[in-house]
Amino acid sequence: MREEILSLKNQAIAQISAAKSTEDLEELRIVYLGRSGKLTELFKKIKTVPGEEKKLVGVLINEAKNALVSLLSEKKNSFKESAREWFDPTIPGIKPPQGHLHLVTKAIDEIAKTFAQIGFVRVRYPEVDWDWFAFEGLNMAKDHPARDVWETFFVEAPAHPRYGQMVYTPHTSSGQIREMQRVKEPPIRMINIAKCYRRQIDASHYPMFHQFEGLVIDKGISIVHLKGTLDYFARNFFGSQRKTRLRPYHFQFTEPSFEVDITCGICMGKGCKVCKEGWLELGGAGMVHPTVLKNGGVDPEKYTGFAFGLGVERTYMMKSGLSVPDIRLLYSSDLKILRQF
Ligand code: DAH
Repeated sequence: MREEILSLKNQAIAQISAAKSTEDLEELRIVYLGRSGKLTELFKKIKTVPGEEKKLVGVLINEAKNALVSLLSEKKNSFKESAREWFDPTIPGIKPPQGHLHLVTKAIDEIAKTFAQIGFVRVRYPEVDWDWFAFEGLNMAKDHPARDVWETFFVEAPAHPRYGQMVYTPHTSSGQIREMQRVKEPPIRMINIAKCYRRQIDASHYPMFHQFEGLVIDKGISIVHLKGTLDYFARNFFGSQRKTRLRPYHFQFTEPSFEVDITCGICMGKGCKVCKEGWLELGGAGMVHPTVLKNGGVDPEKYTGFAFGLGVERTYMMKSGLSVPDIRLLYSSDLKILRQF
């Protein structure tokens, strides 16, 4: 009898555990605990058990019954939970986290839009390119410091017979010759916004950064057009009060060459703690060197052009008045920083 009780109990436990629905459970309850259920039948058999064993058998059957009753109700509750019978449609939902574009992506979009309004076409050229496009074709002497391995990332790949070694483009100026080759015959009005790479890392430099390069080539282009374009950009991008100035400088690919400054957004050119003399440096510019025009297949007797190259991160910081103490934070993927912009 004892074995009979235990094996019935085990069988019932196994079946109840495997039940898939409340209907299954109800069926099993009837099979085991119903009026003529298997366990109920055992209760009836108690009277046939010899004297001293009666009590023990009674206890065992009762235990089995209690175990099955509580297992049945446990199982029933678990169905209720998984069926979400307690679902409350009035509780506000969990909102998925909302992302946004990276600060630099926003800056690039804005810069591209500002220049698009005056007819500049945005172009993209390889960010890993040959030495010829990055240096040689831009009239940069073989011993120019930028062509040193300490300044530029050279790729360990077989050199091109004509274009030389492969480099990570150290500036967007490498797009100038490519654009001349693509267009063949001016007019050209390009804005090339791309990644640049240099071997430098500190609070204000990062090995990868962005520049935007303007190039305009046509008949009769002069410094006046360059100045007008930069002033347009300053007014539209930074605000109507801002002005630019050109300071004589030297670049191999332009003649004459300038550094471009913009009036400080805090003191508007009067001079303050941040800018000292009222001006902040934006980047380089100049009139395209005749050798560079020739290298791009453009006749320097017929055409002239201007070019400028400015840093995206730097320019955007100046616009928003953001002071990011360390440029590396922009690329750190630290959400505490990125969420702020
Ligand atoms: N490529 C220069 C640099 O990265 C910036 C520059 C200077 C670009 C003068 C130009 C230019 O187009 O005319 O420092």
